[in-house]
This record gives sequence, structure tokens and C-alpha cells, in this order.
Amino acid sequence: MQLSLEDTPYSWTLRVEEAGDQSVRLHALTSFEDASDRLYRHLQGRGSAGYRQDISPMFGVIWGSCRAVVDRLVEVGDELDGQRILELGCGLALPSLVAARYGAEVMATDMHHHAEALLAKNMVENDVSGLVYSNLDWREPAPSQVPLGGFDRVLACDVLFAYELPELVIAQFARFLAPGGVGWLTDPGRAWLDEVVAAGERHHLILNIDVVEVIRPGKQEDIYFIEIRRPKG
Ligand SMILES: C[S@@+](CC[C@H](N)C(=O)[O-])C[C@H]1O[C@@H](n2cnc3c(N)ncnc32)[C@H](O)[C@@H]1O
Repeated sequence: MQLSLEDTPYSWTLRVEEAGDQSVRLHALTSFEDASDRLYRHLQGRGSAGYRQDISPMFGVIWGSCRAVVDRLVEVGDELDGQRILELGCGLALPSLVAARYGAEVMATDMHHHAEALLAKNMVENDVSGLVYSNLDWREPAPSQVPLGGFDRVLACDVLFAYELPELVIAQFARFLAPGGVGWLTDPGRAWLDEVVAAGERHHLILNIDVVEVIRPGKQEDIYFIEIRRPKG
């Protein structure tokens, strides 16, 4: 049971996100709550609980956690040129679009069946190239086009929304970071951040956790910023 992007009952808005001196135009859901109500009313109870979680419209919103990564990308700016970057659970893929504009070779990934079509629209809207999309579900083996240990940076924003996710998400950093590579994982401050630290130890990664302020017109948020290093040796 899959709806095409055109057949979804959602309402869309074209938003403009500022990233340093860049403006990024994004087709995004008008409201996450409204989209959820419309989707679940449309489904009328069809589909398992797992299916309903997998098709949640959370992919179609710009979350504060991804703005924290965008701010950090802007700080490092031209250092990104030529770097191999992977974004996990990209949703609207704002960090990927920004990194691609700095000259990075970016692969944006998600498991949601609407993420690719929406990214294609948003790439055209922003005249961005140098960015490819691949379907990647963290519960599945990695597809061959997403190379294990193949990325200088791995980004993941607001992907710890359920208790079982710290292990699954940290395992992706271990799978895809190159030796010496650095990952950025951001979260609004969920209760299971301790599980993230424990998972980092299990996967022999070095974690450093900070809280950063994300400021946008009319809005201020504190976001947990977790830097993840894969040792060289
Ligand atoms: C809260 S949204 C965050 C979207 C985006 N990173 C942001 O911050 O704006 C969580 C994202 O994780 C994706 N996701 C959830 N479970 C996943 C899984 N098992 N494998 C890959 N992506 C997943 C969802 O489809 C969604 O796009």
C-alpha cells in the first residue's frame, strides 16, 4: 500500500531556509500535525502499526536538529569541498543540499518512499547537482551503492525518536564512516541519550556531546550536538 507523492492527502508550502549566505528553497509539509491527521484519516486504520510508523510524514518537515547541522556546515564552509558526505534519515535533506553547494560529494539517504521524489523537486528548485539519493533502511543490509567505510562525514539529524534507535543509528556511523572520519548526530534532547553513549562504546567510536543554540527568526532551540569520530587505527 504505497501512495505516490501526488496522491498524498498533504498540503505543501514552499519555505525558504537561510544557511549562512545561502538561501535554500524547500517544498515542505505545511504542518506535521495536520499531515499526520490527514494521512491516518486517509488510511482508515489500514496497515500494521509498524507500517504506519514507517510512513509517518516526519520526513517532510524541517526540524531544529537539522538546522544545528546546517549551522556547523556553514562554519566549516569550503573545507567541505570534495569531501564524501552521507546523510542518514535525510527527510527533506537540507544539510545535504547545503553541503553539495559547498562542493561536497553528497549521498542523501532515507527509507521513506517519498523522500527521493521530494529531493528531486528540491534539487531543481535550488539548481543543485553533486548530490545523489539512495534508499537506505538502517534495519537492512547496506545497498551496494552506499559503500561501507566510504565517507569522510556522516550526518544524521533528529533520528532518535524511538527507544530502539540509538543502537541502530550509531551502528550506521560505525558502518559508513571512513577510518579517521567524523560524524554529526543532532537531537532535541530525548531521554535515551545515555544509550547513545553506550552504543558508541560498543562500536569503538569516540563521542563528544555538546548543547548548541539554534536561532532562527522568532525561534530559539537548544539542540544536543554529538560529534562521533571513528579512530584511524
Ligand atoms: C524526524 S525525521 C528527521 C528528518 C531530517 N533528518 C530532519 O532533521 O529534518 C526522521 C527521519 O528518519 C527517517 N527514518 C526513520 N526510520 C528509518 C530507518 N529505519 N531507516 C532510514 N531512515 C529512517 C524517516 O523517514 C525521517 O525522514
